[in-house]
Order: sequence, then structure tokens, then C-alpha cells
Amino acid sequence: MRFRPILMLSSIFLAKLAVATPCETSSIHTVPLNQTSSVAEDLEAAEIESRATPPNLDYRCGVKYGKCPSGTCCSSSGFCGTSKAHCRSPDCKIDYGHCDAHKSPKGPPTKDVGRPHMGQVPYGPQEVRSCAVPGTVALTFDDGPTRYTGDLLDLLDRYDAKATFFITGINNGKGQIDDFDLPWASLIERMQLSGHQIASHTWSHEDLSKVTPLQRQDQIEKNEAALRNILGSFPTYMRPPYSSCTRDSACGTDLGRLGYHIILYDIDTDDYKNDDPNLIQRSKDIFDQSLSTGSPTSRSWLVIAHDAHEQTVHNLTEHMLKTMKRTGYRPVTVGECLRDPRDLWSRPDDRMPSRKKKGPKSSGDPKLVSIDGTCGKHYTCLGSRFGLCCGSVNLCGNTTQHCGVGCQSDAGYCSVEVPPNGDAWDPKIQSKGHKSDADSILYTVGTAAVTSLFLALIVAMWM
Ligand SMILES: *[C@@H]1O[C@H](CO)[C@@H](O)[C@H](O)[C@H]1NC(C)=O
Ligand SMILES: *[C@@H]1O[C@H](CO)[C@@H](O)[C@H](O)[C@H]1NC(C)=O
Ligand SMILES: *[C@@H]1O[C@H](CO)[C@@H](O)[C@H](O)[C@H]1NC(C)=O
Ligand SMILES: [Zn+2]
Repeated sequence: MRFRPILMLSSIFLAKLAVATPCETSSIHTVPLNQTSSVAEDLEAAEIESRATPPNLDYRCGVKYGKCPSGTCCSSSGFCGTSKAHCRSPDCKIDYGHCDAHKSPKGPPTKDVGRPHMGQVPYGPQEVRSCAVPGTVALTFDDGPTRYTGDLLDLLDRYDAKATFFITGINNGKGQIDDFDLPWASLIERMQLSGHQIASHTWSHEDLSKVTPLQRQDQIEKNEAALRNILGSFPTYMRPPYSSCTRDSACGTDLGRLGYHIILYDIDTDDYKNDDPNLIQRSKDIFDQSLSTGSPTSRSWLVIAHDAHEQTVHNLTEHMLKTMKRTGYRPVTVGECLRDPRDLWSRPDDRMPSRKKKGPKSSGDPKLVSIDGTCGKHYTCLGSRFGLCCGSVNLCGNTTQHCGVGCQSDAGYCSVEVPPNGDAWDPKIQSKGHKSDADSILYTVGTAAVTSLFLALIVAMWM
């Protein structure tokens, strides 16, 4: 009797193992417009049904070992598990288990939205590496939004600068951008309201040259649906993760067919290598030296940086803005530096009912627009000339102090703060993944050990 819970636990474990391991990804590809599941979800469902081969007992995964038990993730170092470290994309191996990459945005897939090639800017497979309008600099920020993005938007507002954000939908364990309990959707809305350009950097930051054509399409379309759920439209501009989109893989033609401009750069700040107060000067020098090779009467620049890095947001970007100001360059979006009209930067898709704002919404009398910058019970900041957000001290403004903690959502726009020390985003274990790999191994070994103990106990009882 005493052992019953253990028995139950163990049988759950055995049941889990029984549905494990590989099978080929079948080619289900006909998703009707009114069906909300995505291509990948269907594939997964098909996979789970057809799993019958012997379980992967040692909890390793990858080319040599095959897939993880159903529902578990294959970490970058090849261990199965369910922790955030195992499942976070892009480290998690998408062909050998579940991953954040396999999660899907709500709502109808975007595959049926028309994608005409409009305007003068070339579409894939052609790649765009530079701006066209002399005197412009297009600052671009990849991999966000992150915990630093709010500060970056404040800074750009202070300089009246416009920038372009290449947004990734579910990378680095941050959750989905269209999960409205997380801060990301508000930040993306704020980008839009502030006149920045919103572009795609794929759903989970996989290398588009290394995945299958179906996975590539999924990486694009899921990010579209997520952005559509926030903005009511999705972008026509994208940057391939790792700037990787080889001819051999047909990636470029696929992206062209999906209606995308492929945007690279002609200044690489190397900011991700220099994310330290003692190193960031190198990135500043790269930027300054590039600008010094020409004059704003004839030159323009397309710059890559990442709002995933503290020094990029809190140090490098203001330096770049100051240099531009001093040398006479204008900070603009990619679309503007290419003379592409704004309405060609995105494709409308309003099939999702616009998101319901949280908080006490329009309960009570309609508010008047603030006339003196104060706000609160009777006056809203929306539509005023003092800024969109009503801060805790009843004043309108656009800064994090107004839009962040204490912001009054019934009297203006509010962005949601990134949870302090929230593990939604930890730049320290980003990209390289060494630390998270170590964690994964420990976790997996621990789980395996506990499980073996259970099994041993059961066997002992049987004897
Ligand atoms: C939904 O799908 C069914 C077939 O499964 C189809 O007959 C119907 O027209 C679709 N509705 C919409 C709105 O697309
Ligand atoms: C606040 O932001 C909005 C949207 O970007 C902009 O239109 C407005 O001019 C800004 N107001 C101030 C006072 O900065
Ligand atoms: C900003 O960068 C400079 C080097 O360019 C460095 O000396 C300084 O400490 C950095 N400031 C902050 C706040 O990190
Ligand atoms: Zn990236």
C-alpha cells in the first residue's frame, strides 16, 4: 500500500516511454483558412500518433540517438528534458523532440494571405545590403523585444530617431510575443505607435539554410500570425537569423515567394561580441570609422545591432545617434532609407479581433483628452500632445516612467514592465548556450537517476 504512489508515478513514466521515438515527418500541408492549428502542430499530432518504436532509454537525443520521449525537448547538447533550458529555441534541436519552436500563435494561419510584390525594393532571393537615400542611416535591432527594448524606445524618442526592429517571436525562452501576459506585445505596439518599422527575424531564430522547406515556411508564417495578433498586419521585410539564407537551400526563393525583402547590412557593429563596458568602444569605433569614409551628401548606411544586449541599448546606441547628429546623418527606418512607402512595409490581416486591453477598461464616463498634461480620473493622455501614457503621478508622457510601473491603463497607453529578474530573458545564457547545456546535462542526469531509483524499487517489490 505504502508504495502505491511510486507505482503510479512509475507507470506514468513507463506509459510516457511507450509512445517514444522517431518517425518521418509526413507532409500534411493543407490547412483550411478556418482551422486554427498551424502546419507544425498538425505534423506533431501525426508524429505522436505514429510513435511505436522502442523508447530512447538513456535520455540522449540527436543524430545518433534519435528522438526524445513524446513531449520532452532535446537540448543543444543532446539530452532530453522539459526544463526551460532544454526547450528554449534556437538551441533546442527541433528534429529530435519538442521545442519552443513548435509552439504556435493563436488564430488562423497566414498562408492564404496574398503576397503581391509591390514597390521598387527587390524581393528575395535578392538581398538588400545598403540604403538608397543619401544622408540616411538605418539603425536595425535584431532578436528582440527583450528586457532592454523599453529603454531603447525611450532613447530613440529623445533623439526623435526612427529605427527598424527585426523581431523574433519566441527565442531564448522569452515566451511568445503574442502572449499578452508578457511585456513583449506592448513593446511591439509602442514601436508601431512611435513610427519605427517592424520586421521579421523568424519565429524561433532557426538557421533558415539548415531547416526543411516546410520548417522554413513555418518559421516565417508563425511569426506573421503572432505579429498579426498584435498589430493587425505582418511585415514584408525580414532578416534571416545568422544572416544565413543560401542559394543551395532555396531559402532566398522561398522568402521571395512568401513576399519578403531580405535585408542585410553594410555596417556590422559586432555588438554581440562587445557587450561589456570595456569592449563596447570597439563597436563605437567600427561605426564612427565607417561613417568617416564618406559624407552625408552622397553616403547612407544600413547598420546591424541587437537590442538583446545591455551595452547596445545603454551605451552604443546613444553614441551612434550622437555621431549621426554631429556628422549630419538622419536616423530613419530601413523602408524610408530605401524610399519604400510605409504602407508597403506590411500586409494587413485583420482576421483576429483586435486584442482586448487589460485593466479597468472604459468603465465609467468617457474621458476628455488632457489639455495641460495632467491625466487620471477625468483626462486621458491618448490623443494629447504630451505623450501617450498616464504615469503614477498623473502626468502624460512617453518615457518608461510614464508607461511602465504605476502607469494608469484607463487613462492612456501602458507598456508592461519586464518582470524584474524574470527568467523570461537572461542575456547571460543567450546564444552561446554553454551554461544552459551544462544545466541540461545536470537536469537530465538528475531525472534519470530518480527514475532509475523508482524502477529499482518496483523491481524489488515484485521479487
Ligand atoms: C471552413 O472550412 C470548411 C471545410 O472544412 C468550409 O466548408 C468552410 O467554407 C470554411 N469556412 C471559412 C470561413 O473559411
Ligand atoms: C509620444 O509618442 C507618440 C507616438 O510615438 C508621438 O506621436 C508623440 O509625438 C510623442 N509625444 C511626445 C511628447 O514625445
Ligand atoms: C560606455 O562605454 C565606454 C567605452 O566606450 C565605457 O568606458 C563606459 O564605462 C560605458 N558606460 C557604461 C554605463 O557602461
Ligand atoms: Zn538574430
